[in-house]
Amino acid sequence: MSFVTCEVQDRVAVVTINRPEALNALNPDVLADLKAAFEGIDQDEVRCVVLTGAGEKSFVAGADIGSMSTMTKAEGQEFGKLGNDIFLFIETFPLPVIAAVNGFALGGGNELAMSCDIRLAAENAVFGQPEVGLGITPGFGGTQRLARLVSPGMAKQLVYAATNIDAAEALRIGLVNAVHPADELMAAALKLAGRIAKQAPIAVRNCKRAINEGLDLPIEQAVELEERLFGDCFETHDQQEGMGCFLSKDKPKPKPQFTNN
Ligand code: CAA
Repeated sequence: MSFVTCEVQDRVAVVTINRPEALNALNPDVLADLKAAFEGIDQDEVRCVVLTGAGEKSFVAGADIGSMSTMTKAEGQEFGKLGNDIFLFIETFPLPVIAAVNGFALGGGNELAMSCDIRLAAENAVFGQPEVGLGITPGFGGTQRLARLVSPGMAKQLVYAATNIDAAEALRIGLVNAVHPADELMAAALKLAGRIAKQAPIAVRNCKRAINEGLDLPIEQAVELEERLFGDCFETHDQQEGMGCFLSKDKPKPKPQFTNN
């Protein structure tokens, strides 16, 4: 039985971490199932992914503390690599990934949400990196992505003092894009995913690469990367159809499948 489910409807895949009895905490089996769920997504059919947690209380309450409690230094490092590799896989997944944060996003949960492209939060969501209270550092990218997403000073304050914040504060510091009443969160995530799914797929993928990869480059190299990805869109069906229809005032006819020509 898998700890992660994946359902596809209207070109949107909803990936759900399903271990509600432990608030969806991430042990090695859950992490493996999460990777398998993403690997199983048909990238020709699907245009956007929504990632969420099962139950009404938690997105992911962190890495599994029971699994970590007896680890040696070497095992701890290996566990960090396991999580980091999977979160990097999600971060660089060709399709956009929206985190629908439906409750606790603590430790590895906040780190997982930060590996996604966009974070939408329920009003009851709680964010934080409580690791120093457990005698460890954040281990699945928290020290790196939080500092990049908010600011180094705010990340240090939250991490050093193990401070949890509510959804409104997460919105204020730019950790999430929007906050919704809990019972409207999935509808909002699916609406945004549906809108993304309607856009030209090669262009959307290239935008994800341009933004993600460009952020780590000096601006001269970043704009060169953009030029290459911009050029890559030309001569595609989507570009010809999209621009042709604009000029003829027609509605674009999408190709039934993702294709690069
Ligand atoms: N690991 C393992 N089990 C967890 C868990 C975790 N991170 N978080 C919650 N659970 C389990 C609890 O042990 C409990 O199980 P039992 O019913 O078998 O006792 C069940 O989920 C429900 O949790 P609570 O009874 O504690 O629920 P609550 O509503 O009273 O509290 C909570 C919720 C505040 C989130 C609390 O569960 C909590 O503090 N959890 C731990 C949060 C945390 O410290 N996360 C960081 C982990 S370290 C990490 O993630 C390292 C990294 O960067 C890789």
